[in-house]
Amino acid sequence: MTLLERLAEARRTTDQLFDLVKPEARYKRPIAERHRIIFYVGHLEAFDWNLLHHRLPGLAPFDASLDRLFAFGIDPVDGKLPSDQPSDWPREDLVAAYAARVRRELDGPLAEWNEPDAAQLLNVAIEHRLMHVETLAYMLHQLPLADKVAAHGAEVPVATPPIDSAAVGIPAGAATLGRATGEGFGWDNEFQPRITGVPAFSIHRYKVTNGQFLEFLRAGGYAERPLWDDAGWQWKEQHRIAHPAFWTPRGDSFRLRTMFDEVPLPLEGPAWVSHAEASAYCNWRGCRLPTEAEWHRAAYGAPRGAEREYPWGQEYPAPVHGYSSMRRWDPIDVHAAPAGASAWGVQGLLGNGWEWTSTVFAPLPGFQPFPFYPGYSADFFDGRHYVLKGGSPLTEASMLRRSFRNWFQPHYQYVYAGFRCAGSATSC
Ligand code: AVJ
Repeated sequence: MTLLERLAEARRTTDQLFDLVKPEARYKRPIAERHRIIFYVGHLEAFDWNLLHHRLPGLAPFDASLDRLFAFGIDPVDGKLPSDQPSDWPREDLVAAYAARVRRELDGPLAEWNEPDAAQLLNVAIEHRLMHVETLAYMLHQLPLADKVAAHGAEVPVATPPIDSAAVGIPAGAATLGRATGEGFGWDNEFQPRITGVPAFSIHRYKVTNGQFLEFLRAGGYAERPLWDDAGWQWKEQHRIAHPAFWTPRGDSFRLRTMFDEVPLPLEGPAWVSHAEASAYCNWRGCRLPTEAEWHRAAYGAPRGAEREYPWGQEYPAPVHGYSSMRRWDPIDVHAAPAGASAWGVQGLLGNGWEWTSTVFAPLPGFQPFPFYPGYSADFFDGRHYVLKGGSPLTEASMLRRSFRNWFQPHYQYVYAGFRCAGSATSC
């Protein structure tokens, strides 16, 4: 596929996502920290416009106030919640007209565009939009079912043998974080490559399951002060967090809120939780979260030979590896795709939910912000975001590359992210 075809496909994907929201719900704000849904309809186009229009011949702003209104689409990091009202936003038909005109104006010149940095900028537009596909999906996940038009996802593969929760021992060795310039598109935070030595450690073969997390909950894990750090405890108390955000209490058990349904808790599905909840669980087990480098080593390292492109080898991600190619809305069981195992037998690393690491998001040595988007990563090197690796069912395959780094705040419960525990060479 050419880059312009990929952009067209990404636009179809975002259009379909907005169509899942019933018209009367389009000005709702399903997640308190994020914008109202209508904002993103404008944002995706304003982003492309603000990035590209001044580099293309013959284009000039036609609505500078909407270009500004829709410019920034990420969570506020100052800890405050937005307080705007639906009436603060333009009418939907005006937003739709703006979006359509941006596409119309850009598309002619884009078809003729062959400057040296065209490919990089188009990749930025495409991946930016695709990341919003995933963050929009998190938002729509939190929207009441009655506000959504149900869509069918692909069939869920049938689960295989019961999980063996024993940890896998990984010998000391090297892990390569990041990538070299000239080897394809990457965001600013993926450069430069850094080879780092990783001491021997152990890591769980599977992601922590809902069933395992339920044991922690039933054992009183949410009430046990020593399992939480100060900020995590304070957050949990203040917001009265007593279970994962994807779970709904029903009597004395829980149901799982899937994208379009509510089902009995799939005990062997991955527990998708915040970093704070994941850390508390690992502490309860006498373990800890893996570092970013350990995660790399567990995923891409091998007893012999070079590091792999993907945990299973060089092949592009496919359903057999546990990746649904964005055709499924919800996770599969943690052991459902043994063909996706790494050289060490660690399973489910890509495509069934991101995985939290204990590494604070920070630049790799040699980091340079993109001049055309200086804040993409640098605005988040604040010590308050953690690296996530892997990918979810809603992550597009290009972003399952080894060097891709995701990041979120530790108390954000809505990400399609789970975790696995790690420990010293002999425990966990
Ligand atoms: C890389 C997923 C953390 O959604 O906050 C979208 C991506 N940046 N628009 C986010 C992003 C600007 C970002 N994450």
